[in-house]
Amino acid sequence: MSKTFQRTLITSALPYANGPVHIGHLAGVYIPADIYARYLRLKGEEVLFIGGSDEHGVPIALKAKAEGITPQEIVDRYHRIIKKSFEAFGITFDIYSRTTSKIHHQTASAFFQKLYEKGEFIEKTSEQYYDEEAGQFLADRYITGECPHCGNKHAYGDQCETCGTALSPLDLVDPKSTISGSVPVLKETKHWYLPLDRHEAWLKKWILEDHKEWKSNVYGQCKSWLDMGLQPRAVSRDLDWGIPIPVEGGEGKVLYVWFDAPVGYISNTIEHSPDNWERWWKDKSTRLIHFIGKDNIVFHCIVFPAMLKADGTYILPENVPANEFLNLESDKISTSRNWAVWLHEYLEDFPEKQDVLRYVLTANAPETKDNDFTWKDFQARNNNELVAIFGNFVNRAMVLIHKYFEGNIPKRSDLSDSDRATLDEFKHMKRDLETCLDQFRFRDALKEAMNLARTGNKYLADTEPWKLAKTDIGRAATILNIAMQITANLAIAFESFLPFSSEKLKQMINKKDLTWNNLGSIDLLNAGHQLNQPELLFEKIEDEAIEKQIQKLQDTQKANRLNEP
Ligand code: 2FM
Ligand code: ZN
Repeated sequence: MSKTFQRTLITSALPYANGPVHIGHLAGVYIPADIYARYLRLKGEEVLFIGGSDEHGVPIALKAKAEGITPQEIVDRYHRIIKKSFEAFGITFDIYSRTTSKIHHQTASAFFQKLYEKGEFIEKTSEQYYDEEAGQFLADRYITGECPHCGNKHAYGDQCETCGTALSPLDLVDPKSTISGSVPVLKETKHWYLPLDRHEAWLKKWILEDHKEWKSNVYGQCKSWLDMGLQPRAVSRDLDWGIPIPVEGGEGKVLYVWFDAPVGYISNTIEHSPDNWERWWKDKSTRLIHFIGKDNIVFHCIVFPAMLKADGTYILPENVPANEFLNLESDKISTSRNWAVWLHEYLEDFPEKQDVLRYVLTANAPETKDNDFTWKDFQARNNNELVAIFGNFVNRAMVLIHKYFEGNIPKRSDLSDSDRATLDEFKHMKRDLETCLDQFRFRDALKEAMNLARTGNKYLADTEPWKLAKTDIGRAATILNIAMQITANLAIAFESFLPFSSEKLKQMINKKDLTWNNLGSIDLLNAGHQLNQPELLFEKIEDEAIEKQIQKLQDTQKANRLNEP
């Protein structure tokens, strides 16, 4: 039996504030989350869309050390850049905050404390590497040494980047501290663990039996975790960058970044709605949806739900529509190798073309498998789809009405068979789009919207109203009336995918108050309604602009080769 909900809380993974955001972030998480938020709002539903920067963790502390500045300075720099990129791309967060905020520190600290007091953690003492010169325990990434598998001399304590093997610091041959360069010693340290094994039974039922509808990539990953059996997970670290452990014995230790980050969704909700945040998190009629990338699945489907359940007062996510990864020109996107299309750089090279990127990344979204972004495909989709189909149809219809009817919607008279056939094609459009969007199949939904533009284009090509205008003006009027009803429908259908273009289109057709329920109607623009002047919605992208981008990537490749050890 399907459940009914009153409101939807949408969260999108909090990106680490240790670099700017790139197309992989947009395609994997933020565009789908934004499409979904916009779609629900257009339907008139109550939505809260949460975003923010993830500002703790070892990589941030390491980057600060490398640059000789404080971690706070690092996150201040990138939080600003990331926030600005999201705003520029029209990601409609209701709040975009950060995990170094005071309210987050308080919330995460209290969350830990409550679980501690309820006896939801176990404590374990183990031996970990300690840097006697620096006077601190070493997180996995702070230790390098020789990989026991491939002999790489620069493997990290958590992974060898040459052979890809996951390691533990104790596996390394000749370990060294990256802080002082000294040889670390083993020393006992105590940590708090979330005993996931205690949660295994209910998690199995909740996911494997009650959420069979989750995307197969998500369900499959959860199943393999659960089949392997869950182990206790440490939720504290010996580190000086993070949220201090608020209980006795916690001196010098902080919350593990993956403990505090998801609580950031709650803190940001509190910051947004201090007086009624609880109805978003504790009322069973709220639908909680987490948008994430595939590397975050275990945290959002297993660890965070276990934390929420351990507290006992929170709802659990209804769905976690995680995406796979986007590659760039057949190679894995990598911040350290600068193999990425950075959003702030894209906007410098393609100003005001946010919707083009939104379109391409949705049309090619890694929804079920990893996908590849190529600049050639970007150009082809812009030129052959946005310009040649959507833009061309709208422009032809608008220009013809201005030419023959002074920009007034002409009256429709009797419909011909071809008119009826065309209108029939978009009768089911609302239902079809809803089916796709409700199942987080955004690529298919976008295809449906583009098919409506295709239908319009074909209709004009078949009926040739510009010829009829000279011989049968009444017939031309009917055709152009229908073309404009299709245009108004396109403004609605594309609104959540291409918000900037849709806004421009609504301005051109002089109709702002279109909502989701209008979709499929053939009476959106009444006879006599005055249109504004047409403008081009999209423009062709020339080879030169694409070659420049390809050259930029080739330069990166060259630089990377020169820097190889
Ligand atoms: O993978 C990442 O980029 C993490 N910063 C995502 C955190 S999501 C959430 F839990 F905050
Ligand atoms: Zn190795």
